[in-house]
Amino acid sequence: MTRIEEFIAGMPKAELHLHIEGTFEPELMFEIAKRNNKEIPYSSVEELKAAYSFNNLQEFLDIYYAGANVLIGEQDFYDLTWAYLTKVHSQNLVHTEMFFDPQTHTNRGVAFDMVIQGIHRALEEGKNKLGISYRLIMSFLRHLDEESAFKTLEQAMPYKDWISAVGLDSSEMGNPPAKFTNVFRKAREAGFITVAHAGEEGPAEYIWEALDLLKVTRIDHGNHSLDDDELVARLAKIKMPLTLCPLSNLELKVVTDLKEYPLVEMMDKGLLVTINSDDPAYFGGYMNENYLGIANALDLTKEQLTVLAKNAFMASWLSDKEKETMINKVEEYYKNN
Ligand code: ADE
Ligand code: ZN
Repeated sequence: MTRIEEFIAGMPKAELHLHIEGTFEPELMFEIAKRNNKEIPYSSVEELKAAYSFNNLQEFLDIYYAGANVLIGEQDFYDLTWAYLTKVHSQNLVHTEMFFDPQTHTNRGVAFDMVIQGIHRALEEGKNKLGISYRLIMSFLRHLDEESAFKTLEQAMPYKDWISAVGLDSSEMGNPPAKFTNVFRKAREAGFITVAHAGEEGPAEYIWEALDLLKVTRIDHGNHSLDDDELVARLAKIKMPLTLCPLSNLELKVVTDLKEYPLVEMMDKGLLVTINSDDPAYFGGYMNENYLGIANALDLTKEQLTVLAKNAFMASWLSDKEKETMINKVEEYYKNN
């Protein structure tokens, strides 16, 4: 391991942008498909992995939804979540704020209860056995209509205590945040925090909408904020966190090269940016690989990496006291390494 690799590996980290369905590793996918008598249209793990080559978000989403098709029972969702938790535990991740996409499953006849109960059981076990604290974010699929999102919100109400926030993901272009104004209002009235994917492929205008119409407390991705100086000034002023995902952006051609990733520019403009993995099974890496990819490409210093790690705790929904504890731990780690 290089010095910087070691530094990243040992640093206490938080992840704020992670889709549990995007952690579905091919090996586990084949295992669960066999258990459920489901066909995967690839003959081997290698052949499936070879299909992971994307020109844009939609090409990825088509494969991602197809992969999720083999998940059926509570145990499947538990196994998926547990595999992620054990993996990131080995990378010194101590806090995760995880998305799940209920409509990906309920639209194929899988009960909402199976999905959330399996995920929740693993998250609780992760907290108790691995010391990973968590929050859960229910994400609406924006290519579906608002009525479907309303139905999903209804299904979530009995599990309100298990879900901290609602989010918005899937195909961005042509599906602006404005389409979900009413269901987000209802979610806020029910006590949910709100976040939204915005400005990944879509324009800066979608980020304005996420702020003004959906009243989000974080922007997921937000790359296209840089197209609009007024927006950047506003995001910086209100310390709106952006959950960036470098390897995802590279694989989905949001950026052509990590060397051109505008991370330092964003930091210099006062944006509260964080590093995340998005869909690690599809994009070639979990947290350490994302930190390392961007650190190597941009020649980041330990100090800059420490700022990024602290930003993630700052932007999390841990209590103020927990945030302070973790930020102190990261600073301590920096001083000793
Ligand atoms: N669902 C899973 N990953 C996503 C991404 N990067 N953008 C939009 N929707 C997603
Ligand atoms: Zn995402």
